Amino acid sequence: MRTDIETIDTDKELVEQLIETAIRQLDFSYAPYSGFKVGAALLTQEGEIYTGCNIENAAFSPTNCAERTAIFKAVSEGKRKFKAICIVGGKDGVLTEYAAPCGVCRQVMMEFCDPDTFQIILAIGKEKYDIFTLNELLPMGFGSANLA
Ligand code: THU
Repeated sequence: MRTDIETIDTDKELVEQLIETAIRQLDFSYAPYSGFKVGAALLTQEGEIYTGCNIENAAFSPTNCAERTAIFKAVSEGKRKFKAICIVGGKDGVLTEYAAPCGVCRQVMMEFCDPDTFQIILAIGKEKYDIFTLNELLPMGFGSANLA
């Protein structure tokens, strides 16, 4: 966990709001195949919160993760700058450990977020969470700068 950058974890109220919002999304999770429910709350640069849940599919591969649901909802409404995302998840919606983002979601974050400052909040509840930068979870990530 990096502590040398300006993080939203100095704003405990905001972190708790993101955690509560992500947990509420578990009710909307559509996970009839895995039973693993995931909720996400994405904070834009302007301070709005976009929500997401995982949406599974009988053909499996069209399944969309909670993080990507939130990011795609925001991008589809013209938002492309993000500060943080909170992710929660567990079997049957019971939170026992951190639900870390899959590789595909980390790559989608890389497309729209500054890897040095974007905060990924992994939580079990308001009293138990840790904050990571995207760079910590996706070291040497490939992004648009590589194609410039
Ligand atoms: N899932 C997410 O929503 N986010 C992740 O980053 C990891 C996996 C979902 C996809 C699927 O519906 C379920 O969790 C089990 O993989």
